[in-house]
Amino acid sequence: MTTFSTPLTDQLEIDIPILLAPMAGGPTTPELVGAVSNAGAFGQFGAAYLDGAAIHTAAGNIQGKTNKGFGINLFVPEDPPITAEETAAATAAIAEYFAQFGVEPPESVTNAMPDFDEQVASVIESGVKLCSFHLGHGSERAITGLKDAGIVTAASATSVAEAQEAEAAGIDFIIAQGSEAGGHRTTWVGDWQDSMTGTMGLISQLTGAVSIPIIAAGGIMDGRGLAAALALGACGVQMGTAFLTCPEAGVHPAFRQALLDVTDDATVVTKTFSGRPARGLRNRYISEMEKSDAPILPFPYQNTLTGGMRAAATKAADTDFMSMWCGQAASLSRGLPAAELIEQIVEEYQEAANAAFHSSIG
Ligand SMILES: Cc1cc2nc3c(=O)[nH]c(=O)nc-3n(C[C@H](O)[C@H](O)[C@H](O)COP(=O)(O)O)c2cc1C
Repeated sequence: MTTFSTPLTDQLEIDIPILLAPMAGGPTTPELVGAVSNAGAFGQFGAAYLDGAAIHTAAGNIQGKTNKGFGINLFVPEDPPITAEETAAATAAIAEYFAQFGVEPPESVTNAMPDFDEQVASVIESGVKLCSFHLGHGSERAITGLKDAGIVTAASATSVAEAQEAEAAGIDFIIAQGSEAGGHRTTWVGDWQDSMTGTMGLISQLTGAVSIPIIAAGGIMDGRGLAAALALGACGVQMGTAFLTCPEAGVHPAFRQALLDVTDDATVVTKTFSGRPARGLRNRYISEMEKSDAPILPFPYQNTLTGGMRAAATKAADTDFMSMWCGQAASLSRGLPAAELIEQIVEEYQEAANAAFHSSIG
């Protein structure tokens, strides 16, 4: 039997150093989070778009699925200035897409993100094991409150500067988000295009730059990826795309099928859906918006603006207008239940570790 002992397994009291990536907006259902934790790895719930009360309910639902530990993830708030003219131009740029679904663009575009302090308070009350942050490292008040409650903290980083900032703020684990990763780039220091280091290069550089442990994320789909990450000095991995095709995931059937059919060249990083760079499957909406160089509002305003269109497209099962976030290695998706997937990954890890560390001897 394969046994793991890393700072991640020790601190989270888990058997397998795999975190389910928190995926806000539906994929990380209580069923999926519970199944991953029950399998000896660690489930995380993406709560970025939920208010305190909804987080409380979700945590209770997860606790109904598992008595093991799990984590909750929040987006650190940002509220860039926008003008009425910019809003009008961005709205006009996508009006025809709304029209084709017979829905109207929103009359006003608000910052629809929930109150961050209320979210943190709810996470603390929910008694979870881990709180991870995306798009920043969270306020001093948030980190202190979580730590006082005995909750482990983590923050995604795409560069040495971000990792060092998060370490200085008191975060316990860095999640190294390589450029292969699906979903939103966490980048909060500098320009996102300057922080597109791949997972391998990022782990190697972050392990030398900070003294807190590194979790690897981006393009890891199997046991070979887990072995490679641990060999580079990571204490575990965070996997999102690999879990999207699990039957327990809250993913639209058309998106799930697209992931099972996809080729290696299908993803792109785009700001067109939310205003923040995020990696997902290229579709007609992204291609046309990029070709016409359409005006785009900063996050979270573009996310609010496109919300009605994305909801209508999801209802119509129209993948040309859905945001289908996933990583560069999506073609390795397997469609297995979470427990079976984790079991296979551990077996593959053992084979990969044997091959890597024994084949060249003698
Ligand atoms: C559909 C989807 C949604 C995501 N949502 C979040 C999120 O809410 N919070 C977060 O910290 N990371 C989110 N991520 C990014 C993951 O944490 C992680 O960086 C990524 O999944 C790793 O790359 P992989 O998808 O190739 O495994 C998301 C990723 C995907 C694919």
